[in-house]
Amino acid sequence: MFWSIFLVALPAVHAALIPSVHDHNDESHAVSSRLPDTWYQPDDHPVHALFKRGAPGDGTNYPAVGSPTWSSAYPVTSPDVNQLPKEWVNALNAAVSAGKIPNIPQSSNTPGVNPVYPAGSDPNGQQVCSATYKCRIPGDIWDGPTGTFSISFDDGPTPVSSTLLQFLQAHNEIATHFVIGVNILQNPQVFQDIINAGHDIAVHTWTHPYMTTLSNLEILGQLGWTTEIIRNSTGGRVPKYWRPPFGDSDARVRAIAQEVFGLTTVIWNSDTEDWSLTSGGTTQSQIRDSFIKWLTAPSKTPGIVTLEHELSTESVTAFMNNYPMIQPNGWQTGSLARLIGSSVYQNSKDPNSPVALAGIVVGASTPSAGNSSASGTSSTSQSSQTQTTTSSTSTGNGNQSSQTSNAALVSRDIPWNLAYILIAFCAPTLTAMVSILA
Ligand SMILES: *[C@@H]1O[C@H](CO)[C@@H](O)[C@H](O)[C@H]1NC(C)=O
Ligand SMILES: *[C@@H]1O[C@H](CO)[C@@H](O)[C@H](O)[C@H]1NC(C)=O
Ligand SMILES: *[C@@H]1O[C@H](CO)[C@@H](O)[C@H](O)[C@H]1NC(C)=O
Ligand SMILES: [Zn+2]
Repeated sequence: MFWSIFLVALPAVHAALIPSVHDHNDESHAVSSRLPDTWYQPDDHPVHALFKRGAPGDGTNYPAVGSPTWSSAYPVTSPDVNQLPKEWVNALNAAVSAGKIPNIPQSSNTPGVNPVYPAGSDPNGQQVCSATYKCRIPGDIWDGPTGTFSISFDDGPTPVSSTLLQFLQAHNEIATHFVIGVNILQNPQVFQDIINAGHDIAVHTWTHPYMTTLSNLEILGQLGWTTEIIRNSTGGRVPKYWRPPFGDSDARVRAIAQEVFGLTTVIWNSDTEDWSLTSGGTTQSQIRDSFIKWLTAPSKTPGIVTLEHELSTESVTAFMNNYPMIQPNGWQTGSLARLIGSSVYQNSKDPNSPVALAGIVVGASTPSAGNSSASGTSSTSQSSQTQTTTSSTSTGNGNQSSQTSNAALVSRDIPWNLAYILIAFCAPTLTAMVSILA
């Protein structure tokens, strides 16, 4: 009961402050190709050392998902920065020392308004480049390949995920699930069902905070524990993609994700606002109108990347209602992680392919507006790409559209944000009560 309140309230503000984005510009993004039996990141990337493993049968022991041994190893709520594995902290410190993590201030967040930065730090500027303000950092993914409709769901696993799984299976579809760590601990069987059904798993943080408000170490905990539980629950697969809650990332946050954990940041370009179906923010008919508009757009470039949730019966229903229109309008459907890149995980092509023990990077960047057909054999590494990116916060690709609509959304969401704050304060107490009851 308590957790169901928690689960509803937490993501209810998801994207509260994020307007629909229909800026179908042709911005290119790099798509890297790696042989399926090698790691996505180059050998000297810290993710190798932090998440090294062997294949099944190599002696690595992963406790059963849902078992006490499995669950007891993870934080129950927001990760304690004093309890982080020291290897993660060392990797972060090394990245900071190497100048790979921009030294920009944390934002602060009060109910009903977008996270704000101290005076002198422009969220749309090249230094900060906040995704909340629709500033795009090269290498982050907002768009899909031409002609594609990427399927993904945030905030699972939850009890309603089961309905969604049945629907997807009946239509022979795989989705990318951006999962929340504490929801995994609360719904281990659903999580296992998602994995067993062959779906793709990506990171949506441990407790769903506004990431730009956090310290470097807090960011480390949010991404690290979620990466760890995915790796340890999927036979050793290291996730490759993460999506920031509320779409709130910036140059610092995405650099920590990239430089420490090898994670690529994924946002969206088409917001259904389905999270607000249960609060009267939007309606099924408004979502249908949005789908019709996206699906009948004059151009199929870029491909559609939606923001959708496995959060409520209503949000799942919205997907199921509109799915039948996608293919008849000429769009190719598929799991987001498979459409935007050559592998779902950093060390495995997909849930059915082997896990690479170690390996070298073989691949190249393909600069094209959402074209995942990968080619090339040069060993251009993601990290060299990232260095360009990190400093390229000064070559400037900060595009800022739709700030006005940001403001328009604010007032409507105040009650939910207040609820969120209340619940956030109460969460430790609720957690304690739950563990007593359970
Ligand atoms: C994840 O699995 C590895 C390999 O078995 C193990 O060393 C590590 O402690 C596990 N992590 C957690 C949080 O259980
Ligand atoms: C991707 O690029 C390749 C090679 O340029 C081209 O043949 C293919 O049609 C493109 N695919 C999409 C979806 O644009
Ligand atoms: C936004 O992107 C367009 C196309 O990529 C570019 O021409 C324009 O200069 C960018 N605007 C800003 C403010 O960076
Ligand atoms: Zn979310």
